[in-house]
Amino acid sequence: AQNERDSQYIVSNWAKDFYHGLLLKSEEGMSIGYGYLKERGLNLTTIQTFELGYSLDQFEGLMKAATTAGHQLKYLEKTGLVVKREDDQGRDTGRRYDRFRGRVMFPIHNVSGRVVGFGARTLKRDDKMAKYLNSPESEIYHKSDVLYGLFQARQAIRHEELCYLVEGYLDVLSLHQGGIKNVVASSGTSLTEGQIRLIKRYTDNVTVLYDGDAAGIKASLRGIDLLLEGGLNVRVVLFPDGDDPDSYIRKVGDQRFADHVENHSQDFIAFKTTLVAREASQDPVKKAEAIRDVLQSIAKVPDGLKRQVFLQQTASVFGFEEQVIITEYNKLLKTAS
Ligand code: CTP
Ligand code: MN
Ligand code: MN
Ligand code: MN
Ligand code: MN
Repeated sequence: AQNERDSQYIVSNWAKDFYHGLLLKSEEGMSIGYGYLKERGLNLTTIQTFELGYSLDQFEGLMKAATTAGHQLKYLEKTGLVVKREDDQGRDTGRRYDRFRGRVMFPIHNVSGRVVGFGARTLKRDDKMAKYLNSPESEIYHKSDVLYGLFQARQAIRHEELCYLVEGYLDVLSLHQGGIKNVVASSGTSLTEGQIRLIKRYTDNVTVLYDGDAAGIKASLRGIDLLLEGGLNVRVVLFPDGDDPDSYIRKVGDQRFADHVENHSQDFIAFKTTLVAREASQDPVKKAEAIRDVLQSIAKVPDGLKRQVFLQQTASVFGFEEQVIITEYNKLLKTAS
């Protein structure tokens, strides 16, 4: 099985070089792929650091080149670079085609720098086309155990004793290029325990940089509770509605972006407390629910001293005696167990 995995690493690495070469050396890659990345403000250094690439808009470009170079179709299939063509009944027709076509390629590295999969962005504005296409799970790629950019960020995370967590590939690239090198992406999905374990190898401090849409914030609250359970210190920074870290740093520049992050970062529990308190307003039923919601988050903090501080803050935000909140908290612990 070791050989099987090695073969998948080798073909993935080969594909990364192949796509990277096309981006910088083919006519289509340079005009369309490189042109797109330049338009989005990325420079050659960033493109090389992250080994970005381009897949030609063809059905057999990679497959032919790879087999000519001596790679077995079997491993191209196992890594999802090549897809089986099936008929209407789902039977294998024996024909194969490239999964990634006409897209900018983002190789996904594991912590030791080996390429395990790809994210791929379409350059077409067609709504029916998925904006991002990703490698399927394979023997070497477990989506839930990977953070995009960690390989390039890991030393900076240790050095800064902080990991910035963003949603997307472009957020990682723009921040890295803007001098914020301790940044990784969960790649859209909600955080997993495996990803949190990865972060904890390097630091206990995470600052979450959300996309600035209200729905996104609400949806992320659960995932952030997982960070707390993992014993991490979590802060959050919000961006103006409609902006994500990439669009915001492009808009205001590196220095004002760094200032924004510094001035607007707040402790997650404090943030959540004010958020739910504001939403509950003076409605007593909602208010009680909101308080229990916050208490649930606090219960996830492993550090007892920190829990105490958060309970004090919750009491003050909601305008209760601390003892009332603590009584409620203890009740909640009993019903939970
Ligand atoms: N994503 C995905 N598949 C999709 C949409 C999103 O895998 N169909 C993941 C990608 O990793 C993407 C991240 O979720 O980077 C965040 O999604 P989104 O905010 O929609 O994209 P951006 O990263 O902002 O990309 P862009 O700026 O190019 O629109
Ligand atoms: Mn796994
Ligand atoms: Mn989004
Ligand atoms: Mn974006
Ligand atoms: Mn985004």
